Amino acid sequence: MSISRRKILAGTGIAASSLTLGSTQNAAAQNSAPQPFAPHDWKSVRAQFLLSPHLAHLSNFFFASNPTPVREAITKYRKAFDENPYSFLDDNMFRRDEDMLWRKVCAAAAEYVGGQPDEIALTSSTTMGLALIYNGLRLKSGQEVLTTTHEFYPHHESIRLAVEKWGGSMRKIPLYESSLNFSADDAIARICAAVRPNTRVVGVTWVHSGTGVRLPIAKLAAAIRKLNRNRSEADRILLVVDGVHGFGVVDEDVAKMGCDFFSAGTHKWILGPHGTGIVWAKAENWALIQPTIPSLMVKETTDAWRQDRPPVGPTQAAWVSPGGFFAYEHQWATVEAFRFHRQIGRKRVQDRIIELNSQIKEGLARMKHVTLHTPLDPDLSAGFVCFDVHGYKPQDVVQIFRDNRVIASSTPYAVPHVRLSAGIVNFPKDVDMALKVVRSLAR
Ligand SMILES: Cc1ncc(COP(=O)(O)O)c(C=O)c1O
Repeated sequence: MSISRRKILAGTGIAASSLTLGSTQNAAAQNSAPQPFAPHDWKSVRAQFLLSPHLAHLSNFFFASNPTPVREAITKYRKAFDENPYSFLDDNMFRRDEDMLWRKVCAAAAEYVGGQPDEIALTSSTTMGLALIYNGLRLKSGQEVLTTTHEFYPHHESIRLAVEKWGGSMRKIPLYESSLNFSADDAIARICAAVRPNTRVVGVTWVHSGTGVRLPIAKLAAAIRKLNRNRSEADRILLVVDGVHGFGVVDEDVAKMGCDFFSAGTHKWILGPHGTGIVWAKAENWALIQPTIPSLMVKETTDAWRQDRPPVGPTQAAWVSPGGFFAYEHQWATVEAFRFHRQIGRKRVQDRIIELNSQIKEGLARMKHVTLHTPLDPDLSAGFVCFDVHGYKPQDVVQIFRDNRVIASSTPYAVPHVRLSAGIVNFPKDVDMALKVVRSLAR
């Protein structure tokens, strides 16, 4: 379908002046003395971001706009590096173990996940974390990774590359035919029924970015624990989770969900600096990993190299955190992103995301020319709303949104859908704006 931008704009009757969306606060904040941050006031939360006030930003999950404290921390570290790069890096990375700033990032991440600092590896993205996990797990030849058809490219590809290397195999199963009518119990039953004696890893995604479905990881982990009762330690099924779209959204302690490995970028919903992420796992699971990239955070591996001997001891999280030099001004500033979430409160963040995305879902569900793909139930979904508009390609709907100053996305999967995603930077007015555009596309 060819799109006439003018026609759509005329059809919606949307005047440019009405498109400044609940963000006058933001513009004011940029032009006057900054107000102290009031974490319980959503307008004050929004004022911490430099997001253009003329747009409804409904794709912020993709790549975070950083709030003021994160930007200021990046600037502070960058200035110090520019002034004296050798000493600043040596003082904060190498000189005294207890002064290493990466330890503060691990401590902040551990507090957020409800785990321990030495359970955290620091990565640059969800993708890097998944690759380090699968590449590092020493599968026996003939063992398989069981995964689902709903994974995003970096998960499937990390598995494919690893099993080729280890001489294993991968198998994908669907967890649902209709995402709108997703049943958590059915999905878990499907996974358990698909496990075979040679299944060593089950790899899933917490929140599916192609449909918006949220898997109950804790329930799945409990079901897998049952299956493991009859298995030896060497054959125990390991649960690996791509958690990026639940991390910073769902009010759950990741370290208590019962999965074995959890990878998430911190540059999406956590609102941290670009090129940052974590993997969480317990010590006994880190011990199963063969590191892929030499780490700079571990004395033992560098001592072993100097002494021309293999490192001694089980692999730990820090051994898997990749060297060489990183964009440390970004890695270290991640502390501020976790603090920002803590100030607002993890439950309040979750509730706000549920409230706004429910408003989108309920609005779309009332439109006859729309097919909704994301479950209405907030327990089965998170920060995504995926849908189709009858007679329009998803990419064309995204362009119409953009022409009307709404930033939406289309899902980059084999079968694409239109995707809206509201976060803590949004207001109900942004959602009204998006719904008005979709309403105008009825024929
Ligand atoms: C489910 C899922 N996993 C992983 C990624 C990639 O995340 P990263 O950029 O942190 O590697 C995405 C991207 O949005 C995603 O949707």
